[in-house]
Amino acid sequence: NRNVVILISGGGSNMAAIVRAAEQQRWQARHGIRIAAVVSNRADAGGLAFAREHGIATEVLDHRAHSSREDFDAALARTIDGHQPALVVLAGFMRILTPAFVTHYAGRLVNIHPSLLPAFTGLHTHQRALDAGCRFAGCTVHEVTAELDAGPILEQAVVPVLPGDDAQTLAARVLSQEHLIYPRAVLAHLLRQPAG
Ligand code: GAR
Repeated sequence: NRNVVILISGGGSNMAAIVRAAEQQRWQARHGIRIAAVVSNRADAGGLAFAREHGIATEVLDHRAHSSREDFDAALARTIDGHQPALVVLAGFMRILTPAFVTHYAGRLVNIHPSLLPAFTGLHTHQRALDAGCRFAGCTVHEVTAELDAGPILEQAVVPVLPGDDAQTLAARVLSQEHLIYPRAVLAHLLRQPAG
């Protein structure tokens, strides 16, 4: 079995897209891929209810209950490792991860970022793309390395910036593409790994 652990902080629409793809494409029966757990650093993350309704174990680990980033990441890794993951998927997980955490999951940690990397790392990507006068925007699935939003690119999608766009309308157009490319990239990445 290849277990996947998904980390969220909020609405979890990318997590939901991956769970739906796994169900519809029968990842478990066809590839032995199982969404083993959804972990959130916030108890009020909207995605937790969706995960439970789909029979997926959920765990909440509040970063504010830990005195340092190192401490939180160590606890997070223990929680994740309880599910023996072949892949850890960051899906709107809004915490910067320590080098120790990233090293621990080297080669099995991926993220989705709402810009065409290497442009617009960090936050407020859509407003910054609008401010820069970009005609195109998009999203990137990449491997996570110690440097923020800088690991090897696995997949990207492009959308036009349209007249009258604001950060919200652009974000929605990009997000609909995230939901297409992230499940695809996760499956492709898992199928490239030797079966565990
Ligand atoms: C997504 O747009 C994702 O790309 C972005 O947060 C949103 C989460 O939405 N991630 C980052 O900005 C990471 N720094 P979701 O919770 O509905 O998947």
